[in-house]
Amino acid sequence: DFLRWCQTVGVTLSGKVYLSKEGTVAERGMLAKDDIEEGETLFCIPRTALLSQDTTRVKDVLREGNGSLESKSGWVPLLLALMWEYTSPESHWRPYLSLWPDFKLLDHPMFWSKDERDSLLQGTGVPEAVDTDLSNIEKEYSSIVLPFMRSHPDLWCPEKHTLELYKSLVAFVMAYSFQEPLDDEEDDECDPNPPMMVPVADMLNHVSNHNANLEYTPDLLKMVSVRHIAAGEEIFNTYGQMANWQLLHMYGFTEPYPNNSNDTADIQMSSIYKAAVQVMCSEEQQQQHLLLEKWSLLTEMEMVGEKGAFIFGWTGSLTDTELYTTLKILCMPAEAFAEFKENEGWEEVEENEEEKIGLALSNKGIPKLPAAWRQVLHSATCFTLDSYSGSLAVDSALLEKQSAYSLLGSREKNALHVCYGQKMILHQLLEMTRG
Ligand SMILES: *[C@@H]1O[C@H](CO)[C@@H](O)[C@H](O)[C@H]1NC(C)=O
Ligand SMILES: *[C@@H]1O[C@H](CO)[C@@H](O)[C@H](O)[C@H]1NC(C)=O
Ligand SMILES: *[C@@H]1O[C@H](CO)[C@@H](O)[C@H](O)[C@H]1NC(C)=O
Repeated sequence: DFLRWCQTVGVTLSGKVYLSKEGTVAERGMLAKDDIEEGETLFCIPRTALLSQDTTRVKDVLREGNGSLESKSGWVPLLLALMWEYTSPESHWRPYLSLWPDFKLLDHPMFWSKDERDSLLQGTGVPEAVDTDLSNIEKEYSSIVLPFMRSHPDLWCPEKHTLELYKSLVAFVMAYSFQEPLDDEEDDECDPNPPMMVPVADMLNHVSNHNANLEYTPDLLKMVSVRHIAAGEEIFNTYGQMANWQLLHMYGFTEPYPNNSNDTADIQMSSIYKAAVQVMCSEEQQQQHLLLEKWSLLTEMEMVGEKGAFIFGWTGSLTDTELYTTLKILCMPAEAFAEFKENEGWEEVEENEEEKIGLALSNKGIPKLPAAWRQVLHSATCFTLDSYSGSLAVDSALLEKQSAYSLLGSREKNALHVCYGQKMILHQLLEMTRG
């Protein structure tokens, strides 16, 4: 039904690929029938086949009401469109939306119980992110969506278009929508494009080491191979450079170690402060006062924030300017700090300075940092490792013992992959900052 619909709406598929429910890493995916060279077009989707707030049958109503549909996420118009299309027998996208008969395939952590999230994912950052999402979804539904539906009773009704359906559709948009990148010329300050559903393209699975990429032209979207793909291989798109915790949060899956080259671990900024207090070893009031003063300058400089985190990937710090400045100032002797504040020379970072900082906080540079900096990092890393429920050794035993691993459910497996990757990155950092 879906493939026939694709033909009628003008989706064209190269003869070298096919959609499949077998031989792919998830329920569905695309496989290569023949060898494919780099730069070949695998399929094209005309813009008219996309499902968005501008193509839906209810587009005029959404456009008229756009003033009252603004939200932090910017997703409300698409979600209202999806609620209508999903429940309308005459929807143009029915064969497409029928691929998700009840959204049971979606198993994002937002569908787990709170206890399950908190116990399986403690320390990973996912429970906090999901709590924020759930509270935003409920607020958006009751303060924006419900009033809008009530003022258009001919199109929506709260008994049919429930909060539960809305939540499923949020997860659907999280996992399957696309956002067209802004043109380079367009201002960074520009609002991002609203998300849209892209049939066929959304069936491709993601790996960090992908082999295809979606390109946008004025009339159509096309998936293009970015390297040679051998017959039988799965076609993988990229959803962006994503850590495992982000993949689980947004898409409900993970890439097991060591495949996710874009995995990351966070160190809370507050842990760096706590570590500095410990390392500068001061019961002494004067020292504590100095650290507080340094921290408030760092806050003023927007290098640190209350809920912020420093991010580490496999090859070093990904927030190097912030971390470098933070360590430098925290470890500065009192006289130097007084002078630094006096000069206020901290506003500009010179260009070759940036390169130097990147190197200093790469895996090559970290072992050569001044001893005090390494001690602060080391101790903050220990605090971070303490926040997980289990140790790296326990996780790694579970991963290695096939008989134990195979007994785990998919939620436990995904949680394990997230925790293990983060702990591996943190242990690598422990080694580099030792002594
Ligand atoms: C709503 O639509 C009007 C007219 O098309 C436009 O000027 C305005 O920027 C839109 N507002 C939002 C929030 O998109
Ligand atoms: C990890 O990557 C390798 C090499 O690309 C691949 O053969 C393997 O199937 C991947 N493992 C998983 C679990 O995806
Ligand atoms: C993400 O992964 C890709 C593919 O493996 C790699 O080229 C890229 O450098 C990685 N980015 C980061 C920030 O690790």
